[in-house]
Amino acid sequence: MTQAEGPPKGAADIAAQSTALNRYRAVRQATEALTRALTPEDQQAQSMPDASPAKWHLAHTTWFFETFLLEPRLAGYKVFDPRFAYLFNSYYEALGPRQPRPQRGLLTRPSVDDVLAYRAHVDAAMARLLADGAEGFEALLDLGLAHEQQHQELILMDVLHLFSCSPLNPAYAPPRSAGPAAPPPALRFHRFEGGLVEIGHAGDGFAFDNEGPRHKVWLEPYALADRLVTNGEWLAFMEDGGYARPELWLAEGWARAREEDWRAPLYWREGEGGWSVMSLRGLRPLDPAQPVSHVSFYEADAYATWAGARLPTEAEWEHAVAGKPIAGAFLPSGRLEAAPAVGGEGLRQMFGDLWEWTRSAYGPYPGFRPAAGAVGEYNGKFMAGQFVLRGGACVTPGGHVRASYRNFFYPQQRWMFSGVRLARDAA
Ligand code: AVJ
Ligand code: FE
Repeated sequence: MTQAEGPPKGAADIAAQSTALNRYRAVRQATEALTRALTPEDQQAQSMPDASPAKWHLAHTTWFFETFLLEPRLAGYKVFDPRFAYLFNSYYEALGPRQPRPQRGLLTRPSVDDVLAYRAHVDAAMARLLADGAEGFEALLDLGLAHEQQHQELILMDVLHLFSCSPLNPAYAPPRSAGPAAPPPALRFHRFEGGLVEIGHAGDGFAFDNEGPRHKVWLEPYALADRLVTNGEWLAFMEDGGYARPELWLAEGWARAREEDWRAPLYWREGEGGWSVMSLRGLRPLDPAQPVSHVSFYEADAYATWAGARLPTEAEWEHAVAGKPIAGAFLPSGRLEAAPAVGGEGLRQMFGDLWEWTRSAYGPYPGFRPAAGAVGEYNGKFMAGQFVLRGGACVTPGGHVRASYRNFFYPQQRWMFSGVRLARDAA
């Protein structure tokens, strides 16, 4: 074959293969890189029912590829251990019974080494599956990769919660050499005219099923704060009796705050020298310029009420970033914590830093239909009693979020990297 004839036949296929396999390998290796700083003991413990051991995350994401891609699609694939289906099925009723979620930490077997061998077995089989490209199952591969990225973030959330339970205050990563904290720029509101707008995923790229169908929404004029609420502002709320004034709180939130004796965000600690905050970089003095993080929906809502504002709806949030580049401090920034806002024009911190609570209940968009089969359980069945968060956080893998991305948690949960952006009705 001569140069003039162009690339050898099949070159396009080879390019596609190496792309799918490279993407697979990059995501899988990134997960293992996150657990490299953890001891086997760190990877074993489960600090609360909502959290999982890092070892379980490593195995569950592997089980996902084995169950949804290898078993149905790779001829002659041999399951690594049939007992793992019970151990590492998270919530798929269609796939049978499973280890109760609160008891994942009791699974001392398989060991971390055995789980890494499981990962190697599945990775070798995935390399065979992807050797012929991912034609016909690109969407399923993308789902498996996006799923593993969600668990990368969960590993960091869960490790922080675990370490926060230790009197030794272990640090996942060393502290940053921080310069003097500049005071945050004064908070300003940006007005949006609203009207008839569209939200939801559009285009060819991957999105979760819950991001569609794209549809029209009517928005009254509104305004969004140009940055996140800071620790310093939260302190003012606390000093003004924020956690002791039922008139600021939703009834369910007030009940929960009393039951669990909330007096500050989840990782704040009061000591002789004032407040400290437990972070992935250990216990650190509270930085008033840093965005407040690890607050529940109920706390976010009470703060907004105190501030004479409200939380944005998810449609208001999405409309405000429509067409904007997805730039912000995500996991690749290496920060592992939210960064103080810097001065400037326009909305800051919309993407990255912290997930932003919205006032929107997590529900189906008009026309939403979950996929048939077990994979249809991925998002749809959780559409009751939760609230939507937007924008991603400093522990969210790069390239994972979109303008239309809908994260969701229960209103009392606060171990996520969650923060607060205020909104207002505009005349
Ligand atoms: C969207 C973060 C609530 O943690 O259950 C992981 C992500 N979905 N495996 C969760 C998820 C399936 C999900 N959240
Ligand atoms: Fe999962």
